[in-house]
Amino acid sequence: MDAGSYQVVFEDSMAKLVRFVNANYPHSKRYIIADNNTLEHCLPIIDKYLGEMKVEQRVFKLEPGEDSKSMDLAYQLWENFTDLGISRGDVILNIGGGVVSDLGGFVAATYKRGVDVINVPTSLLAMTDASVGGKVGVNFNQLKNHLGYFSDPKGVFIHTDFLNTLPDREFVSGYAEMIKHALISDKSTWVRMIEQGAPSVGFVTEILPASVAIKYHFVKQDPFDKGIRKVLNFGHTMGHAIETLFMDSDTEVLHGEAVAAGMICAAYVSHIEAGLAKVDVVAISNLLQEVFDLEFVTWLMAENLELPLKHDKKNAGTELRFVLLTESGKAIYDQPVSMELALRSFEFVQSVVNGEMEF
Ligand SMILES: NC(=O)c1ccc[n+]([C@@H]2O[C@H](COP(=O)([O-])OP(=O)(O)OC[C@H]3O[C@@H](n4cnc5c(N)ncnc54)[C@H](O)[C@@H]3O)[C@@H](O)[C@H]2O)c1
Ligand SMILES: [Zn+2]
Repeated sequence: MDAGSYQVVFEDSMAKLVRFVNANYPHSKRYIIADNNTLEHCLPIIDKYLGEMKVEQRVFKLEPGEDSKSMDLAYQLWENFTDLGISRGDVILNIGGGVVSDLGGFVAATYKRGVDVINVPTSLLAMTDASVGGKVGVNFNQLKNHLGYFSDPKGVFIHTDFLNTLPDREFVSGYAEMIKHALISDKSTWVRMIEQGAPSVGFVTEILPASVAIKYHFVKQDPFDKGIRKVLNFGHTMGHAIETLFMDSDTEVLHGEAVAAGMICAAYVSHIEAGLAKVDVVAISNLLQEVFDLEFVTWLMAENLELPLKHDKKNAGTELRFVLLTESGKAIYDQPVSMELALRSFEFVQSVVNGEMEF
C-alpha cells in the first residue's frame, strides 16, 4: 500500500524493512526506540533480519505504558540524541505500540527540525491506527496528546507475528479500532466480523490491510483533521468521556474498551437521528458485547458523563458533535446531538450489558 509519501508494508515486512533501510539510508546511522516489553518480545523476532542491517544504537529503552508519553521522556531522548551526535540524515526505528510511535515520532520530528522515522508497530492498536496518519505527540499536565503535531513516518512495516505475545486484553482493545473502521466504511468486513465473533491473530492478519487502508483513505483526504477524517472518531465522543471518568480510578478501562461502549452509544443515537436500522444497532451491540467485557458501564451513572462530554475538544462550542452511521459501512460526521440524547444512549449501553437492550 502506498500512502503517497510513504508505504505501509504487510507481507514479508521484516525482510523488506531491512532492504528499505539499506537502500534509503546506506550511509546513515540507525537507532531503535522500544519499550521493555517490545525489547523482550519483539526485538528477538526481528534480530535475525536486523543482523543484515547495521544498527548504531540498539535501543532507547522506555518503561512500557502511557506514562512514558511525557515531556520528561521526550527530554531524555533529546538528550540521548544530542549525546550520541545523531544527525538529520540518520534514521530512527520505532518498535512498539502507540506510546513508542507517538513519543518517538514527536522527539524525532523536533530534533534538528526532523530526523526520519520508520514505524514498526507491535500492538494491534498501533498496527491499525497509531502508526499511520502522522499524528505524534505527548501528554502534558494530565491532558492527553496535548503537545504534538503532524509528522509522517517514512515507512510502516507491519508484522502480525508480534501479536502472538501481545496480552489478550490489549489485542482485543486494538480490535475496537478495526471494528470502527469496518462500521464507518466497509460493510463486507463488518459482515465477516459478525461471523467471526471473537477475533484471532489469523483473522486479524487477513483483514488488517483493508482496515489500515480505511484509515489512509480518510487521512489522505484530510491530513490535518479538519473535515472528513473526523469520521475516524466514531464511538470516541462517548468513549473518551468514559475513559476520562476511569482515568484516576482503581479500575483500568483500556481505550478500545471505552470506545466499544462508545460505539454502542453512537449506534443508538444513529438509530434515533440518522436512520440506522434497529437490526443494525442490535448486531453492533451483540458483537461488541461478545468481544469486550463492558461490565464497567454499569458502575457509572449516565449523569456522570455530562461534565467530560462538555469538555470534549471535538465539540463546537457547547453543542455535542457525534459521528453517526446511516447504515453499517456509512458514516456522517459533525452531527449535533443533545446532551439528553447522549446520556440516554449511555443508559442504552447499560441496558445492553444488563441483557435487556431497551430501546
Ligand atoms: N498517533 C495516532 O494516530 C494514535 C492513534 C491511536 C492511538 N494513539 C496512541 O497510542 C497509545 C496507545 O497505543 P498502544 O495501545 O499500542 O499502547 P502501548 O504502546 O502502551 O502498548 C500497550 C502495551 O502492550 C505492550 N506491547 C506492545 N506490543 C507488544 C508485543 N508485541 N508483545 C508484548 N507486549 C507488547 C506495550 O509494552 C504496552 O505495555 C496511546 O497513547 C494513544 O494516544 C495514537
Ligand atoms: Zn481510538
